[in-house]
Amino acid sequence: MPFAVKDLPFAKDALDGISSKTIETHHDKLYPGYVNKRNEIEAALPNADRSKSAQTYSEYRALKHEETFNADGQILHELYFSHLGGDGAPPSGALAEQINKDYGSFENFMTELSASGMAARGWANVALDPTDMKLHIFIADAHNQGGVWGTIPVMTLDVYEHAYFIDYGSARADYIKSFFKNMDWQKVSQNYDKAVQMARIAGSASFA
Ligand SMILES: [Fe+2]
Repeated sequence: MPFAVKDLPFAKDALDGISSKTIETHHDKLYPGYVNKRNEIEAALPNADRSKSAQTYSEYRALKHEETFNADGQILHELYFSHLGGDGAPPSGALAEQINKDYGSFENFMTELSASGMAARGWANVALDPTDMKLHIFIADAHNQGGVWGTIPVMTLDVYEHAYFIDYGSARADYIKSFFKNMDWQKVSQNYDKAVQMARIAGSASFA
């Protein structure tokens, strides 16, 4: 069953400071590219010649490598769009408590996340780590680079130029401020609640 492109959970012109042109390019053109290429790769893999597989170059290696690039491109973009369209009101409840525990305050957390967004070449990802049950911010320079195995992403900030260049040119910090203004923290809270359940089941690797 091929992967399907998901609809936006908000109107293209609904965001404050991120234009409908940017959303149209980002959601309608770039994101489906990852979904379609992932499907294309999955369809091509059964026919690739395993006997010629090599780390230097082979059709099989190229397909396996780009499989992760497009799968992660799909997954991260779906997370990104899922928690936009809100009013930016800070979270409450369990997510707020966890943020306060791990970062001291929501303001501190936002400072870390903004700095991570400025440091990354692709993504700043907030993820729950089952090994310490803390929220970490990991940066990624490509979709398939910078992920930490076993952690569960709860929100992501796309800092590729395509996410902001139409609206802000090279002023990435201004885009990050707009991104936060449009955050739906309730959605992130739901992601966090699910992540806690998953993390409790996953736990950390046992050597016993
Ligand atoms: Fe993107």
